[in-house]
Amino acid sequence: MNVSNINTVGIIGAGLMGHGIAIQFASKGFKVILNDVSKERLETSLKNIESTAEQAKLQTDKILDLINTENSLAETAINSDFLIEAVFEDLNVKRGIFERLDSICPKDTVLASNTSSFKASQLAIKCQYPERIIVANWWNPPHILPLIEVVKGPQVSAQTVQITMELFRNIGKSPVLLQKESLGFIGNRMQFALLREAISIVENGIATPKEVDEVVKNSFGRRLALAGPFQVFDAAGWDTILAIANQLFPDLESSPKEPKLITDMVENNELGIKSAKGFYDWDETTISTFRKNISEGLSNIDKFNE
Ligand SMILES: NC(=O)c1ccc[n+]([C@@H]2O[C@H](COP(=O)([O-])OP(=O)(O)OC[C@H]3O[C@@H](n4cnc5c(N)ncnc54)[C@H](O)[C@@H]3O)[C@@H](O)[C@H]2O)c1
Repeated sequence: MNVSNINTVGIIGAGLMGHGIAIQFASKGFKVILNDVSKERLETSLKNIESTAEQAKLQTDKILDLINTENSLAETAINSDFLIEAVFEDLNVKRGIFERLDSICPKDTVLASNTSSFKASQLAIKCQYPERIIVANWWNPPHILPLIEVVKGPQVSAQTVQITMELFRNIGKSPVLLQKESLGFIGNRMQFALLREAISIVENGIATPKEVDEVVKNSFGRRLALAGPFQVFDAAGWDTILAIANQLFPDLESSPKEPKLITDMVENNELGIKSAKGFYDWDETTISTFRKNISEGLSNIDKFNE
């Protein structure tokens, strides 16, 4: 298999991530087979593809022409040159899908998983050709955020890595290769370290959630879209950073426990946008304004990022 032979991409799971990944491939001219166990989900997904593509000012008709929906996993496997699994984060469901794909697809067809937490070696446990099964974690919204974290698990072949990285670059993404399997990859490890500290600040009465959000948005949050931590602190000077780290590191939150503040919220069904209440109150207008601002703001960052 060569990247130039990849014309049709099969996506298993037509939910939040699957529909966005489908948009990305179709917007770059690839044919897409979008698969789901639920026919209703496929219908909803096509509607979501239309509205998401329109909001992102993409060529919606062209994108919809390139995407076909399919209920049968076997048909999807037979007719695709590269497959991406994006179903629920359930190890047994994912394992079952990889076992079937592995038994149907030619042995050099790459099978990628958008899992947030499992290792390729766990997913491939029942497969005859585990060397072509690779973790490739997209970020939401997948048609806007450039990063895909590709993981070089111990069983993954160099050819699988090369095809996956090249294909993602060809569709305008910025894949980063992790040389070792790591829980949470890079992005979520860092994002959750930030979240643990933010929750601790609120629990300790230092500031309210709104004030924490203001601090991030109006300071280092802006910088981080344009420069990573190593670039930011190269600019600041490591002698200064070392002195600050010596004071701060021992004081930062390091508890491995579930934060009580969040456990209580989940028990009270304060789940955020999906239950109309989290740290903020949400209604149709505030949700749509928030999503529009994020989508348009994120799309504009690229021009400063060269
Ligand atoms: N939501 C995020 O921000 C995000 C980000 C990165 C990675 N991920 C990962 O992407 C994957 C999908 O997440 P999501 O948020 O799109 O979920 P989702 O719930 O929106 O969609 C999952 C879809 O999979 C379908 N499905 C379930 N079993 C199936 C099967 N056997 N065959 C075909 N389709 C099946 C469901 O019907 C559903 O439409 C998960 O592994 C998740 O961890 C999610």
